[in-house]
Amino acid sequence: MHDKILDFLRKKQEYVSGEDISAGLKISRQGLWKHIQQLKDSGYEIVAVPHLGYKLVSSPDRLFPSEIASGLQTKITGKKIYYFDSISSTMDMAQQLANKGAPEGTLVLAEAQTKGRGRLGRLWSSPKYKGIYLSLILRPAVSPAQTPMLTLMAAVSVAEAIRECCGLEPRIKWPNDILIHDKKIGGILTELNAEMDVARFVIIGVGLNANNDRHALVAGATSLKEETQAPVNRVRLLQEFLRKLESNYLVLHRQGPAAVAQKWRALALTLGKRVKVVSQKTHMEGVAFDIDSDGALLIRNDSGLVQKMTAGDLVHCR
Ligand code: BTN
Repeated sequence: MHDKILDFLRKKQEYVSGEDISAGLKISRQGLWKHIQQLKDSGYEIVAVPHLGYKLVSSPDRLFPSEIASGLQTKITGKKIYYFDSISSTMDMAQQLANKGAPEGTLVLAEAQTKGRGRLGRLWSSPKYKGIYLSLILRPAVSPAQTPMLTLMAAVSVAEAIRECCGLEPRIKWPNDILIHDKKIGGILTELNAEMDVARFVIIGVGLNANNDRHALVAGATSLKEETQAPVNRVRLLQEFLRKLESNYLVLHRQGPAAVAQKWRALALTLGKRVKVVSQKTHMEGVAFDIDSDGALLIRNDSGLVQKMTAGDLVHCR
């Protein structure tokens, strides 16, 4: 009922009479009043004026599903949203939901994570109401070898959303670090559930430092608020990410990986740089000159030998 009342109030930016809302939603005036009080308790600023009705003045800085869904207009991403005030990791919840058959585009959001995880077993600091922490379930018809391209697609989508909402120019460090002025602002963790030669589902996890204060950031990290010197509207940014991701996912599906790879190259910070990559299997150093159609990084070493990296920790050399 709360969502329906909010929809009523959002439609008109002016006062809406209690009579109209009650009649439209088939609830009593007293019932409506109680719901309005509950909405106010959860942070919505709603003014009530006798003879005029109710007016929505502002919404709380929360990633409530009804806020995300309002005006989103996507067909896949965020069609179903699970929201948690705090959770261990959105990845675990998304895994559980996907295993139970949750449809493609299902989104798991949390305001805080107690065990947020990053790549290579690292922790992802997830302070409450500061960042964006999400996991999105995708069910692409691809082989496991093709899934790294989904990570690159997600990185491109995050960068595009930041550019659109904050006017900043983020760059991508292979495979998935989002940087602004050489400092990390976000990262992507992709987890795959696959059979022999086909992906059952892929979980795209995104962590973004949005309104984190400088003192609370780890070394080498930054936040959007730090970079713009103004608080970021997390709802708007998240909506834009969902739109960009949907559009890039369709590009990947219709035009193939080359089209996404092209977008990634234009945002990449790594290409043309001397790099070192350390993974469980190999250690290599050379110049990163391109990515292949599966999203692997191509590195030419000093003897001219080209090697392909699909995973690992990358350092840009000076
Ligand atoms: C990285 O750069 O290492 C990737 C970080 C990914 C963090 C996000 S936050 C939401 C989702 N839940 C997690 O536990 N991790 C990802």
